[in-house]
Amino acid sequence: MTIEIEKKEKGLSRRDIITGAGKIAAGAAILSMGGIGKVTEAEAYSYASDFKYKKLNPREVGQISYENYFKRWCASSVIAGFVAPLKKKVGGAWKGFPIDAYRAFHGGLAGWGALCGTLSGAAVIIGLSTRDTDTAESMINDLAFYYSYTELPSFTPAKILKAKIHNMTMAGTPVCHISVGKWMRSEGVAFLSNERSERCARLAANIAMEAVGMLNEYAANGKYSPKHQLLFNLAANGITSQNNCSDCHGQNPPSPNETYQTLKK
Ligand code: HEC
Repeated sequence: MTIEIEKKEKGLSRRDIITGAGKIAAGAAILSMGGIGKVTEAEAYSYASDFKYKKLNPREVGQISYENYFKRWCASSVIAGFVAPLKKKVGGAWKGFPIDAYRAFHGGLAGWGALCGTLSGAAVIIGLSTRDTDTAESMINDLAFYYSYTELPSFTPAKILKAKIHNMTMAGTPVCHISVGKWMRSEGVAFLSNERSERCARLAANIAMEAVGMLNEYAANGKYSPKHQLLFNLAANGITSQNNCSDCHGQNPPSPNETYQTLKK
């Protein structure tokens, strides 16, 4: 599987992604093109992992993630949602899994409001449970689409642990600050409130459950059918991005400079 980008008169468009055999390759290499010179192709590759995955119950994983949130916060609570049942069902490498090694992904990396930690946590599990870069990245890409364009949180806990909450919001982005900020404005609460904590706990459950669906499909069929195009935003916008330009740039987001010298002309 290969991917190529050609320079067009007006920067890059989605159509510029030409895929070998109708498939789309992984993102890592393409993102480093500027730095390493004449890379025009990115190969997907397979990898080994000692972590075996077996079909899980989404509702169970969601509930464990929800409960863990109040101790471990977003990233590690999603990881705990998977590791607890996988320890029992599969055992092996999952038994000694260091759930808390990933705790600092919370709050968009230790409170910096960058990438929502639920996605980082899910990405760790997906990376360990799959066996090739395209599959892992396809799932994570679809998860970012789900996160960005679904009204969340929709998870309802078996028993409410912190607070009743009323609103669901669509983030438009996987960025923690914007996602939680839109929800806080809609709910009318502060960040350090029980309500906000409840929201992020339920969101962790939603993201974990969505990831379970993907990994269950992979476990059943040995493959995953992507819902969205890989590197969609990079291709559409000519820069690593989300599609919520006006959240930060107002009405006139800049157009990227066309400095793609390293790409095939
Ligand atoms: C989370 C906030 C945020 C979002 C969302 C965002 N940007 Fe940016 N972007 C910035 C900041 C901050 C800079 C740094 C330059 C600046 O301050 O204008 C930047 C820089 C850029 C640049 C490089 C500077 C230049 O003038 O060439 C481009 C191009 C750009 N953004 C385009 C976009 C597009 C297109 C979108 C939507 C697909 C987008 N941005 C979404 C915050 C954002």
